[in-house]
Amino acid sequence: MNTPNAYFEQLYSDSADPWSLTEQWYTQRKYDHTLAALPHRRYRTAFEPGCSVGILTTQLAARCDSLLATDRVAAAAELTAARTRDLPQVRARQLTIPEEWPDGRFELIVLSELLYYFDDLTLRDVLTRTVRALEPGGTLVTVHWNHPAPEHHRTGRTLAPVLSAIPGLAMLTDCRDPDFTLHVFARQDVQGRTPLSTAAREGLL
Ligand SMILES: C[S@@+](CC[C@H](N)C(=O)[O-])C[C@H]1O[C@@H](n2cnc3c(N)ncnc32)[C@H](O)[C@@H]1O
Repeated sequence: MNTPNAYFEQLYSDSADPWSLTEQWYTQRKYDHTLAALPHRRYRTAFEPGCSVGILTTQLAARCDSLLATDRVAAAAELTAARTRDLPQVRARQLTIPEEWPDGRFELIVLSELLYYFDDLTLRDVLTRTVRALEPGGTLVTVHWNHPAPEHHRTGRTLAPVLSAIPGLAMLTDCRDPDFTLHVFARQDVQGRTPLSTAAREGLL
């Protein structure tokens, strides 16, 4: 069973920032890794489900022309909207994935501290939709906590083999921190070709 909505609603009714994302050096350092690992300087379109209070959202926004940030909890989506009100490229919405998956394709999808809430069936659905929604050559970033938690179905380490087996994606970055596992994937084109690396694109090879 997926972690139920009531669990998240209760967290946000107890605290405006249940994971203290605004305060921790741990979190900022992890966001810095996430942003540094993006292989493109800029993205036209991006999707960040599970945005919580929008801290990563504001930092991603600096690299995106258009960013859709969503959360299943209205309070979280509202805080993200308030935090990004001066960033016209950001749209913050209350949406639950995979049920309310947005239309359209994206050049970047960020799945940060989200996938361990899904049971096996739903995880497969979310990953299938993710690959379908990524433009060829687009980027998927995943980053997850390595330590077991009662409400988590998996850890960053146990998600790794599932993610690396997804058809249509080529792994570009495999970052193993003691506390989190971060991957960057590129969407292959219909012929199964992997996009050029950052250095190759810039003519350094
Ligand atoms: C641990 S926080 C991660 C926040 C942020 N992505 C980060 O990395 O700092 C997980 C967030 O995902 C949201 N969430 C959980 N399941 C979701 C779902 N099925 N659809 C959309 N949001 C979801 C929760 O409400 C919560 O705000």
